[in-house]
Amino acid sequence: MEGIFITFEGIEGCGKTSQARLLNKYLEEQGYKVVMTREPGGTPISEAIREILLSNEFNTMQPHTEVLLYLASRAQHISEVIQPALQDGKIVISDRFSDSTFVYQCYVRGIDLKRVKTMNLFATEGISPHLTFVLDIDPTEGLRRAKSRNQRHARKEDRLENEAIEFHQKVREGYLRMAQEYPDRIHVINSDKDKEAVHEEIRGIVDRVLANR
Ligand code: TMP
Repeated sequence: MEGIFITFEGIEGCGKTSQARLLNKYLEEQGYKVVMTREPGGTPISEAIREILLSNEFNTMQPHTEVLLYLASRAQHISEVIQPALQDGKIVISDRFSDSTFVYQCYVRGIDLKRVKTMNLFATEGISPHLTFVLDIDPTEGLRRAKSRNQRHARKEDRLENEAIEFHQKVREGYLRMAQEYPDRIHVINSDKDKEAVHEEIRGIVDRVLANR
């Protein structure tokens, strides 16, 4: 049987990386074969593209350049990691995927969604998530969490974390709109609560989806 593709989305500091890891651990304990990955990234080429995308050196990056780099990183990720794992019947968990492009590049940066959807199909070869969790949190709290995480890891804020609060508010709004458009696939989870409580909610939804297969 074809595997299942689950993605985590949300603004900076929403907790999606921790939740993706918790879900990975839970599913592995249940005996599933799981591949956990992230975007931009997930392969050596895609990780190299990530460095360019997030570098503070490249503040002059144009929106069209940016979208093409995200899609280039995704094309490699799909053919090297995601497609083979799904064909093998594995569960793939990705920390961000196409919805990030639709929200950040189209809804926020203003690039035409229809065109980007067509280009994204080219990059993904038609693969899209079965299930998506948008972790929803107020951007002020999200950025506070992202900053304290960076301090813990002695890291500076990246190019996107350095955007103004209005940018992050627009990102949040974009995700909520996407969720309204795809209510069967996208689940909005309030992430302003205990990590374990968020995990339980996610686990409940994943358990239901797995039971119905
Ligand atoms: P991360 O820090 O959550 O891993 O995400 C890296 C940044 O890249 C984040 O600010 C969102 C952004 N991004 C896009 O703008 N478009 C995309 O398609 C993806 C995958 C990420």
